[in-house]
Amino acid sequence: MKGHVALITGSARGIGREIAMVLAKRGANVIIADVNLQQAEITASEIEKEARCQPAGEIPGESNSSVAEGTYAIKAVAMQFNAANGSEVESAFTHISEQFGRLDILVNNAGITRDALILRMKDEDWDSVININLKSVFLCTKEAIKLMSKQRYGRIVNIASVVAFIGNPGQANYAASKAGIVGLTKSAAREYAKRGITVNAVAPGFIVTAMTDTLSDKVKEEMFSTIPMGRFGEVLDVANAVAFLASTQSGYITGNCIHVNGGMYM
Ligand code: NAI
Repeated sequence: MKGHVALITGSARGIGREIAMVLAKRGANVIIADVNLQQAEITASEIEKEARCQPAGEIPGESNSSVAEGTYAIKAVAMQFNAANGSEVESAFTHISEQFGRLDILVNNAGITRDALILRMKDEDWDSVININLKSVFLCTKEAIKLMSKQRYGRIVNIASVVAFIGNPGQANYAASKAGIVGLTKSAAREYAKRGITVNAVAPGFIVTAMTDTLSDKVKEEMFSTIPMGRFGEVLDVANAVAFLASTQSGYITGNCIHVNGGMYM
């Protein structure tokens, strides 16, 4: 990924932050896009400090020719925009095009939950989850494809969820948004395959982040009992799967979804 430019939405913290870190460690310049600029700036500077591309041969499966010997610095830039707002997304991509001149990787990671049983769910909870989790993927994918088409190369990875496949009481809005991502992923994959752009999804199970921290112990225990591996997922488990799909090595894989859930759904 040396020299590649990667945009990760919602990457100020959590899974997105770890994805940005792993891509940067593999040599990509990363754009830390988030609504929370202050946290995005902190993350960007931490990544610049920590991510030095590994010397050739130390990344399993990475060909020696793609990574030069020795370590080198990468660029990590913080950018503030709401991924669900069309005009903010458009101007962010114009800025990316001007600053970097290219975009090789887009990871649509920004997401929220507004949980409630359907009978108690407010319209605005439905709308905000569908907008931030699903419409954002449409908006960012549209802009990314314009840049990637010119290059005849691109990797788009969308973060779905295990609940897209199994459902979850109290998460009708969230499950619908994530199932929508799976359909959008396959459609985009078919539309742009001939332009060298792959579009795939990663569906995490229960991953330890601020998002899952808010769940009650009872819910956590129930979830835990459904995981054959007997542990919750770590952000790195997800980031490693994303890094593979975002790399040049996954070139013949498109319209797919990698499940990262410890066997919770198979
Ligand atoms: P998190 O809440 O820790 O981080 C989400 C980030 O997205 C935050 O930095 C937030 O500021 C940002 N964000 C929220 N709305 C945004 C918007 N409109 N535009 C730009 N940025 C925005 O969440 P976490 O756990 O890291 O989740 C990341 C993704 O992974 C989400 O799409 C989530 O649905 C998905 N996921 C998480 C799982 C988990 O167990 N944590 C399981 C399955 C999927």
